[in-house]
Amino acid sequence: MNKNLGLSFLISLAFVGQVHAQRKTITQRVDSVMKLMTITEKIGQLNQYSGREVTGPASDRKNYLLNDIKNGMVGSMLNVKGVKDTREIQAIALQSRLKIPLLFSLDVIHGYKTVFPIPLAESASWDLDIIKQSAQVAAEESAASGIHWTFAPMVDIARDPRWGRVMEGAGEDTYLGAQIAKARVLGFQGEKLGSVDRIMACAKHFAAYGAAMAGRDYNPVDISKQQLHEIYLPPFKAAADAGVATFMNSFNTLNGVPATGNAYLQRQILKGDWKYKGFVVSDWGSIKEMIPWGFAKNLSEASEKAIVAGSDMDMESEAYKKELEKLVKAGKVDVKYIDEAVRRILQKKFELGLFDDPYRFSDEKREQKVMNDPKYQSITKAAAQKSIVLLKNTNQVLPLSKSLKNIALIGPLVNAKRDQAGSWVVYADTANIVSVYEGVKQKLTGAKIGFSQGASITDTSTVDFSNAVKMAKNADAVVMVLGENWEMSGEAKSRTDIGLPGKQEALFNAVKATGKPVVVVLMAGRPLVFNDIAAKADAIIYAWFLGDQGGNAIADVLFGDYNPSGKLPITFPRNVGQIPIFYNHYNTGRPVTKPTDIRYKSAYIDAPNDPAYAFGYGLSYTTFAYSDLKLSTNNPQKNETVKVSFTLSNTGKVAGEEVAQLYLQDTFASVVRPVKALKDFAKVKLNPGESKLITFEITPDKLAFYDEQKGWITESGEFKVMVGGASNDIKLKSSFELK
Ligand code: BGC
Repeated sequence: MNKNLGLSFLISLAFVGQVHAQRKTITQRVDSVMKLMTITEKIGQLNQYSGREVTGPASDRKNYLLNDIKNGMVGSMLNVKGVKDTREIQAIALQSRLKIPLLFSLDVIHGYKTVFPIPLAESASWDLDIIKQSAQVAAEESAASGIHWTFAPMVDIARDPRWGRVMEGAGEDTYLGAQIAKARVLGFQGEKLGSVDRIMACAKHFAAYGAAMAGRDYNPVDISKQQLHEIYLPPFKAAADAGVATFMNSFNTLNGVPATGNAYLQRQILKGDWKYKGFVVSDWGSIKEMIPWGFAKNLSEASEKAIVAGSDMDMESEAYKKELEKLVKAGKVDVKYIDEAVRRILQKKFELGLFDDPYRFSDEKREQKVMNDPKYQSITKAAAQKSIVLLKNTNQVLPLSKSLKNIALIGPLVNAKRDQAGSWVVYADTANIVSVYEGVKQKLTGAKIGFSQGASITDTSTVDFSNAVKMAKNADAVVMVLGENWEMSGEAKSRTDIGLPGKQEALFNAVKATGKPVVVVLMAGRPLVFNDIAAKADAIIYAWFLGDQGGNAIADVLFGDYNPSGKLPITFPRNVGQIPIFYNHYNTGRPVTKPTDIRYKSAYIDAPNDPAYAFGYGLSYTTFAYSDLKLSTNNPQKNETVKVSFTLSNTGKVAGEEVAQLYLQDTFASVVRPVKALKDFAKVKLNPGESKLITFEITPDKLAFYDEQKGWITESGEFKVMVGGASNDIKLKSSFELK
């Protein structure tokens, strides 16, 4: 065959007269491309480079990277964005012999041009619909900018707030995490790949990256198989079931074997047991990092171990490109592994329609139209409102009255814009961000709004304290905005002290000493420890990093235009010594049953066992009552679904939303079970005086646990049913006996 014939011509020839279904057709089209490829070209498809050195001023560009693209030695680029740049680089790829289009990928983590709340914040909404919409907007904007693929969602369960990457995930709970994983995948991808306003998602980091020892990034992970399967894998499985196009492996070892070279994870579980059909990209340089781990002697061995273990695409190690062909020739790597990886990658390029039009995502008119569409601001505002968690509200100090005449806004984050965007902002114009100062000013046009920074996040100076205190003394209301800056969470941002940095807590104490009621708004990418504020502030709003509309959303909560409805997706410890602390722990043989009696109990002698704020906790401006718990059966069969119904009522004076939560405990089993585990939830809106009948379903899979020998099993016996508004606020209880 004349290999210089145009590829699309060849492909179309192969299909003349065929009337197969689309999926079958793509498989055959992949086959026809594979037949044309040399081993070198196949390996090229497995290579991914970062675009920082191929775009921008000519003097910064690296010619060898551009040549590799031109020679068909690159399958995908990350960090090339925007129609102009993606078109330019795609055009270079199309000069290659087979003209296989590139995939453009990027970390679109919480919005692209429009900044949404950080993922941990959005998870506090427990609102799957807004979470899905947020991912959809990010997809619409980035797809209009030439991007095909985001490295999101991060679905790592994280029980350690020292780990800076808690901000990127859905928190500590497996069930909530799995629901959110699914919502995000569907938001990014839509029901089916191929639409020009959706992008491929990537479930990362496979697997158990969130269990890094001591909360230190890139550290080893040593957990039991039971923990792996019960706690860490289900969100990945949910993403796979939702059709996520790709997976990313991780930097960590899992029980001694780096995830990137881990055949148990990638071959056996993902591609074997789960029959996953997408492809796996390595994490940045994680193939070559197997050398310092002491798992591979050199790049050649690292490449061999990674490809055999099921890692399909090499992000930024240049390992496959340099080593795989030699390994095949030496008989060390079976070419079937390379063929399989290439097939998986080409499949996605076909599904995205790139073989039909390599530029279909890079359309200047669409880019101009979609970017910064004002309708996206109302969606990010709703997401920001729903993400806020009200932690404390003594004597209903909140909401503040709109007729206040003199308000003091104090703290280093009052007018912070970049910080409010949080980590992983790739394209946004942070000048668009509405700060708290601006949000309050816009709301109370007739009032005097004072602003004093008071303290800094990054130093320990107290020179501005007196100014802040003076302003507080003269004000009718004091709102302090304190927390971390955006660079204190995210990748490689682990902290051993998760208190408020600098002298912020001292500033709070100085302001509080004026005797004025003080409302504290906390911004951070993780749970912080803030014991003085917890004890003495009149009200506390946890605002994470809320993105573009954070200031407006916070002002809405402060002045009662939005009734807070968020609930914590992660436990807040009292101090770092309690970590890891999470709600679904085991009881131990010596549980503390009375806090005053801890002798020879599983306890600390210097702090209680319970956290500062529990998983699932969050207040509202109204109150809710739970009543009339009923189970559809008290004696179900193993294959039977148990329906749990109850009445939820708004017993307060304003409309509000409650996140009702269902927890189960398997009382006795052959392996000890957690004291409770979340199995369902519902976010319910109720007007004052209104009641609704809520029904949760306990499907048989919710009763199963992972036995290291037998796999997932269910055992007969008693299950306790608990329903309430937080993991530590159970309002209704019952039980059933599984036959
Ligand atoms: C991170 C990934 C990210 C990748 C590409 C890595 O350092 O761990 O989550 O997708 O870089 O930017």
